[in-house]
Order: sequence, then C-alpha cells, then structure tokens
Amino acid sequence: MTPTTPSSDDPSRDPAAGARGLRSDYCGDLRVGDEGRQVQVCGWVARRREHGEHLAFIDLRDHTGLVQCVVDGAHELRNEWVVRVTGTVRRRPDGTLNEDLPTGEIEVGDCTVEVLSSSEPVPFPIDERVEVDETVRLRHRYLDLRASRMQRNLRLRAAVNGALRAAMDRQGFVEIETPLLIASTPEGARDFVVPSRLSPGEFYALPQSPQLFKQLCMVGSVDRYYQVARCLRDEDLRADRQFEFSQLDLEASFVSQSDILDMVGVAIRAAVASARGEEPGPIAHMTWRDAMDRFGSDKPDTRFELELVDVTGVFAQTEFNAFRAPSVKAIRVPGGADTTRSRLDDLTDRAKRWGAKGLVWMRVEPDEINSPVAKFLSATELADLRAATGATAGDLLLIVADEWRTTCHVLGLLRLELGRPAVTEGGLQFLWVVDFPLFEALGEDGSPVPAHHPFTMPHPDDLHLLDSAQSADLLSVRSQAYDLVLNGWELGSGSVRIHDPVVQRRIFALLGIGADEAQDRFGFLLDAFRFGAPPHAGFAFGIDRLVALLAGEENIREVIAFPKTQSGGDPLTGAPGPLDPGQLGELGLRLLPPAN
Ligand code: AMO
Ligand code: AMP
Repeated sequence: MTPTTPSSDDPSRDPAAGARGLRSDYCGDLRVGDEGRQVQVCGWVARRREHGEHLAFIDLRDHTGLVQCVVDGAHELRNEWVVRVTGTVRRRPDGTLNEDLPTGEIEVGDCTVEVLSSSEPVPFPIDERVEVDETVRLRHRYLDLRASRMQRNLRLRAAVNGALRAAMDRQGFVEIETPLLIASTPEGARDFVVPSRLSPGEFYALPQSPQLFKQLCMVGSVDRYYQVARCLRDEDLRADRQFEFSQLDLEASFVSQSDILDMVGVAIRAAVASARGEEPGPIAHMTWRDAMDRFGSDKPDTRFELELVDVTGVFAQTEFNAFRAPSVKAIRVPGGADTTRSRLDDLTDRAKRWGAKGLVWMRVEPDEINSPVAKFLSATELADLRAATGATAGDLLLIVADEWRTTCHVLGLLRLELGRPAVTEGGLQFLWVVDFPLFEALGEDGSPVPAHHPFTMPHPDDLHLLDSAQSADLLSVRSQAYDLVLNGWELGSGSVRIHDPVVQRRIFALLGIGADEAQDRFGFLLDAFRFGAPPHAGFAFGIDRLVALLAGEENIREVIAFPKTQSGGDPLTGAPGPLDPGQLGELGLRLLPPAN
C-alpha cells in the first residue's frame, strides 16, 4: 500500500457528514447503536494484532479514543501510520467484548484502508501506562500530544478559557490586547528583554503582566477590561512556574474590593462548571493574619487540618531558654506518637533548613510527655500545653519558638510535609486571603519591600502609619490587596489601586524609588493620573495553575501545549540558541565571554 490522497468526490462519503471532512464518525464515538452503519473513520494506528494469515485487528486512534477495525491484508500497516478506514459497524462476537474501552462492544468490519501517511518507528509508545522521560516527551511533544491525557488537558483548558471569556463578557468586561514589546513592569521577577534593531543599544521588556496598561485603560474610561494575557517572567522554574504563562487579567473602575471578589468569583465558578459539570460553593474569606497564624502560609491548603496552635502564653514564664521567644507555636499530629525517631530527626533537619533554630517534638503518652526537653518544663507548662493543643495520648506535638514570622513559616511547611493530600484528593478548596500587609519586610537598604506591586492602595484606616518613622508601624500597614488560593496554590492576586499621584509618589518614596526614578520608570502612569484617574481595582489569576488543578495535574507543564523544561529549555525547537554574528551586529550587540 502506498500513501494515497483521498479525493473529495469519493462516492462512499456521506454528504450529510461533510462538516466532518474525510470521515463520517470519530473513532471513540461508535457504539452498539451504530450497528449496521457503514462508517469512515480516520486516525493513527495504535496497535496491530495479526489474526491468522490475512486478518489483522487494528486499533485506530483519534482524539476521541480507540476503535477496533478488522482488516483484511493489513500487513504493511505499522504503528502511527495515518489511515482512513471504511467499514461496517458490527457487534463483537460473544466473549471478545472489551469493557475497558467505551467502544469495546463493537468493531468496524469488512474494512478497506487508505493509507494517508506512513510513520517511522516512534521514539516512545503512545500509551498512558508507559513512563517516558520528560525531555523525550517534550522533544517529540507532537507525539506526546496524541496521548489521551494531553488531549483531555488541552481540551479542558480550551473549555475553561471559553467559560472564562463568556463569564467576563456577561459581566460587561471588554477584551483588550495589550502590547508585548514594552517598558519594564514591576511584578518583582526579572524581565525578558528584546534588543531593538532600530534603536541600537536600547531594549524592550516583555511584560511580566499587563498591569500598567490595564490601569491606563481605566484612565481611558474603558470601565471594565479583561484579557487572557500572556505574561513573561525570567524566574526559576518550578511545578507551578513557567517563563511564559497565561493570566485571566482584569481591571474595573468605580468598584470596591468586594466587587472585584464577586466578579472573579463569577468567572471562577464558570470555569469550574465547565470542567467539572458543577459549580463550587461560595468562596470563604480569611485575613492574611489568620492564614499565617493558623496555617503558617499566605496560601493555606485548607483541604486538611493540622492547624498551628499558638502556645506563647503557656511558656511566658518558662525556664527553658529555647522557648523564651516572641512566638511559640505547636502542631498537634493526631495519632502521631508512633512516628519513628529517624523521621523526627528528618523533620528537625527540615525545620532547621527552613530557618528554625530547632524543633521540639513530644510524644504524648497517657501519663507523661515523652520528649528530650520534657525535663526542662514544669508540670504546669506541660499540662497547659496539653490543654492548649487538645493533645491526648497517642498524639505527637511539634513545637517551634522564634520570631512570629519564622514560627509560622516553618510550622506551615511542616504542616504541608505531614499532611498535604495528593492533587486529586480533597476536592477544590478555594479561599480568599484578604488584608495583606502593604510591605512584606524591610529590604537590605532598610526600605520596605512591597508585598504586592507598588500600585497597591494602603488600607484607608492605616494611611496615617505611612508617616511613622517606626519600621514596626510601617510593617503593620495593611493594604487593599487580596489573593485567591486553591488547594494551597496561589491562584491569583489583585488590589485596589492608588489613583492619586500624590499617594503614589509617597509610596514610591517609601520604597526607595526616588522622584527621578519614578518619573523614568512609571512617568507615563503618573502623567496619566494627572488627567483624571477613576478609582479602580483589579485582579489576575494564573490560568495554567487553575487548569492544572482542575485536571488533577501536579505540574503546569501538563496543561501547556509546548512548555519549557525545568531548566528553561525547549527540547523540541532547541530554544534558547545562539544568534548568528550578522544578527548580533544588526542589533548592535557583542557578546562577552561567559561569566563562569
Ligand atoms: P501576580 O504577580 O501575583 O499578580 O500574578 C498573578 C498570578 O499569575 C500566576 N503566575 C504564574 N503562573 C505560572 N508561572 C509563573 N511564573 C507565574 N507567575 C505568576 C499565579 C499568580 O497568582 N498584575 C498583578 C495582578 C493584579 O494586581 O491585578 C499580577 O500579575 O497564578
Ligand atoms: P538546645 O537548648 O539548643 O540544646 O535545644 C534543646 C532542644 O530544643 C533541641 O531539641 C532543639 O532542637 C530545640 N530547640 C532549640 N531552639 C529551638 C527553637 N527556637 N524552637 C524550637 N525548638 C528549639
């Protein structure tokens, strides 16, 4: 058989199925109800089994699934050849049904086969059950995409995007595309830059987000903007981070924080409904302070308990030096008393790596507390500790004493280490985290580091603290910033924006961005604000992250058609690669020898 090009006037074609092109049906759609119909199916040979001298069973695959075709004289057909099969649907003989296959009750018989394209032997089998090295998968992503997992994920993503767009349209948002070649946006990561040929020595930045443009749209009276926006950030890649990712980005004028939360909620519910067939319930709210106190994280995974308990008061008068600290917190692990010593040592090592000075463990026994430090603690302290944590015999207590941020941070990570469910377990737990602090910490130069971006409006009740000379006051200023969290992943962030150039200059000054630098980097925004800026607020959430969690995937690479590897390369196209000297010259660039 040699590849043939089917002609469009093939007499076997059902004109009524014209919209389906060369086929009458998709492979995975055929059922007993189609018995007796003559069908044309197109796809890839997934498997061929000889049956006697002439007959062969072909499993034909397209994006909808597999169907078995019984073919006479199919010896030349090999895996991954592209064929069009014409035949008649019939029930499989008794005893040959395949219950694992939706089409397993039928087969296509009396087949004629047209070969549309042949295939060399493929570098890995297209089979979910076979583990394939990821670099190999990505190098041949077009083969990897043939697997049902990737087909499902890409289609899920498309459905979610469609639902998001429809939900935004319904709420009166206007989809606007913003430029990719821009001046730098301050989202906190490194920029990818693009050299300019027409202005040698000058560079564009690729947007880390459309932040400044969407705010300019508000000044431009757009009122409600949204975009499925590509964002580019040069940062270390992780399971939930790629250089390039997509946000559902939105901004609205004359609205409050709670309006934005409602608008985002509508979009999220539509997205979940499109993926899961049912909407999630209302999304709970938690303040940043509570999230840190109870879960040790600003993105709490509320699918499981193991909450942090504050026991600072229990040790207010303690003789045990390690517990004389501004904050002492505990986690009670129900039934954890049988944790082995080597596991406890491992948890202690982790706690230290995460910044703790140590980790105290206590096995709670019926009459005593078994712990290396029990002898340093009074009977009252031990009794109060039991009462505060609710510990009973058989439990394990893990305790860290330090600055509040450190106790929260370390126990928050231990909590995840001890109890985090797999991505597919525990349902979808969305959570709004509100009242973030305006500043995260003091930087090395003593100026505060913004917790969100520098356009975030301080909480109106805390504005007076901005003028305080005390760093503790500054760090206690709340902002009107909010995050959406799903199962412990930060899904999105947003804030009410500063629309008053005077307040904006004040914040820049606090951040150590001088008037000249502010004018240089964000002058266009400050200028725009001089001409009537409406109060506005917005949000953006990561579509890759949302779709990954909806698909039950641990890594966002699985929901991106052509992602980068962990080290930032694309094994398929070979990017990044060198530029030829001519191109460099045209851009006015000369390369230095590598730094190391
Ligand atoms: P932020 O920087 O918090 O906010 O980003 C919003 C959301 O984008 C997703 N995200 C990423 N996804 C994959 N890979 C990455 N490298 C990556 N970085 C971020 C996350 C994150 O929560 N302009 C503001 C929003 C606003 O204030 O309106 C912004 O971009 O899901
Ligand atoms: P030390 O007094 O340093 O010998 O510590 C006694 C025990 O307390 C050890 O098990 C340490 O791991 C633990 N430890 C020390 N400092 C802290 C701390 N800040 N928080 C919790 N445990 C600590």
